[in-house]
Amino acid sequence: MTGTHRAVILPQQGGPLSIEDRATPEPGPNEILIEVKAIALNPVDYSQRDSGFPPVPSYPAVLGSDTSGLIAKVGSDVSTDLKPGSRVVAFASSFYQNGSPDHGAFQKYALAQSEGVALLPDNISFEEGAVLPLAVLTSLTAWTTIGISLDTRYTPQDKQAVLIWGGASSVGMLAIQSAKSLGFTVYATASPKHHEYLKKLGAHAVFDYKSSDVVSRLVETVKSDGVRLHTAHCVVEGGLQPTLDVLRETKGDVAAKVAHAPVLPAEHPILDNTEIKFVFPSMDPVERSKHIHRCFQIWLRGGLESGSVVPSPPPQTEQGGLEGLNQALDKLRSGVSGSKIVLSI
Ligand SMILES: NC(=O)c1ccc[n+]([C@@H]2O[C@H](COP(=O)([O-])OP(=O)(O)OC[C@H]3O[C@@H](n4cnc5c(N)ncnc54)[C@H](OP(=O)(O)O)[C@@H]3O)[C@@H](O)[C@H]2O)c1
Repeated sequence: MTGTHRAVILPQQGGPLSIEDRATPEPGPNEILIEVKAIALNPVDYSQRDSGFPPVPSYPAVLGSDTSGLIAKVGSDVSTDLKPGSRVVAFASSFYQNGSPDHGAFQKYALAQSEGVALLPDNISFEEGAVLPLAVLTSLTAWTTIGISLDTRYTPQDKQAVLIWGGASSVGMLAIQSAKSLGFTVYATASPKHHEYLKKLGAHAVFDYKSSDVVSRLVETVKSDGVRLHTAHCVVEGGLQPTLDVLRETKGDVAAKVAHAPVLPAEHPILDNTEIKFVFPSMDPVERSKHIHRCFQIWLRGGLESGSVVPSPPPQTEQGGLEGLNQALDKLRSGVSGSKIVLSI
């Protein structure tokens, strides 16, 4: 494909982002070129814009990871039913491609590795679909990070429970759905206005994290339900201490495991016989591709086709397209509640 397209670039550390025309790339053998219709924003995007963390390998950079759109072109080795014109969601991240700006989401045409591209059913809008990629990858990677295979299928007799601290976040909603699909009984925390929605996504019980007795009420419920709770995903900053306070009372003699989505501070709370690990996919490209294939081609694609995976949170569509991105990132930085900021492109 020859020509140019509109892109949002980060010219240097500290931003702001600006608009530029970039040459539209050809997909490599295992790549797919996406004509982007919608993008979703994540905390990592304003962090990279504002402070260059996680490190941006080179400038000018194209940030972002969440896209939906139409397949414009496929590489020579892409032998799936992903064809030009297909509606898709795509994990398009320059972060995992040595900073290559052709692979960032925030532009009209973006390259993605084929394993991170999943068909989007016609009944799901591009804006709804765009909320999925990074949250799907993070929520599923949390399980493998703490040694839980994505093939796990607990039955009610196993009585395996999990705590998701921060259930109303983007990652939290996919954490609830993925935990349910592995067979866990799911306990979550969120503001009361989100409780019913999170139960529809698969949470068994949801607790208000702002209430002073949240830990004791969680522990009481887990004990009266007679389940085994020694696994948790702490999705939001500030959630680790209460997560450990719950596990202290519920884990018994079993070694507990906590996946932690935010970067773990050097000094963080700990608990005896408890492993706490930062959620991160393998840095080995072959391992990572296999994992992304499992997440997108099996879990997400199958779930969207059957309706068992619900795109969540609902998109909060902001105006302005690519031109509105700086403002939309500022809005995300000031906080969202049970929604995901999306821009139509
Ligand atoms: N490790 C990775 O690869 C990776 C990838 C993606 C994201 N992350 C990190 O994961 C975290 C979540 O990202 P996100 O995009 O999912 O966040 P988000 O959607 O912006 O999170 C907002 C939600 O967090 C909830 N929340 C805030 N403080 C809370 C607390 N103390 N207890 C319980 N809930 C709380 C709020 O719930 P209410 O509305 O109910 O108040 C709100 O709905 C961020 O730190 C992000 O950087 C890591």
